[in-house]
Amino acid sequence: MIKKCLFPAAGLGTRFLPATKAVPKEMLPILTKPLLQYAVEEALSANITNMAIVTNKDKRAIEDHFDQALELELQIRGTQKEELLKEINAICNYATFTYVRQKQMLGLGYAILTGKPLIGNEPFAVHLADDLCILKEEDDNSVLYQMIKIYNKYQCSIVAIEEVPINQIHKYGVIVGDLIDNTNDTYRVTNMVEKPTPKNAPTNMAIIGRYILTPDIFNILKQTKPDKSGEIQITDALLTQSKQGHVIAYKFKGKRFDCGSIQGYVKATNYFAKQQGII
Ligand code: UTP
Repeated sequence: MIKKCLFPAAGLGTRFLPATKAVPKEMLPILTKPLLQYAVEEALSANITNMAIVTNKDKRAIEDHFDQALELELQIRGTQKEELLKEINAICNYATFTYVRQKQMLGLGYAILTGKPLIGNEPFAVHLADDLCILKEEDDNSVLYQMIKIYNKYQCSIVAIEEVPINQIHKYGVIVGDLIDNTNDTYRVTNMVEKPTPKNAPTNMAIIGRYILTPDIFNILKQTKPDKSGEIQITDALLTQSKQGHVIAYKFKGKRFDCGSIQGYVKATNYFAKQQGII
């Protein structure tokens, strides 16, 4: 059973400055909904109700978003606008939210390690809100739901992957693996490389922002040294697990928008606007 999802949300979001000077990147909206709310909804769709969020001192808007807003509710009570808060209020009432602050900017691996007190000693999901995934077919399940099914079969860490154009590969962690189930597009990972140059990339199978991790990852992360850029990489910790055959890569069904980049953010906005008949 995967009961908890960790949302690392302590990044600086420098690609979106000046918007992210005072507003957390994870709170930027696609139409009217913040990225992190899409993320929490995806976790709920995978039957996860315990949301563990890694923030920092400049990200208080996140806690406020997943809490009651009594004054606002009072102001719009009895009007049609009440409807606009229905969805988020239902989420706040149904799910549990816990928070921990990341104190040093040491990268995604360090953010995940910071989440340990909220997770404890159990397998958990990790969701990066700036990778917004949509389903291709209406009756497909969410990416996290798909990954939990794979976890239930293999009982080890799972990473979601996507084939990306080779000229984009330097932005990703890349896997090498043996295909073990072609009906499910799953690979047993044998090697991983963080942000290779196109020339050095062993494959074009890139890790995206969804993981199921077993709790031994915390001890591995503790022993993982920062890389050249001073960041502790989750890819390096996963590489240790993969050397024991304990990492599965899964080519998820769906489409991803990289909302951490301006281009991906605009594409996602256009997609949702078209879908809702706004443009
Ligand atoms: P990014 O690699 O996109 O970094 O983080 P960033 O700092 O948010 O954005 P840019 O590159 O400066 O524009 C991917 C995810 O990991 C989280 C971010 O909040 C985002 O959800 N993260 C990153 C942390 O929680 N802590 C970190 O130290 C770094």
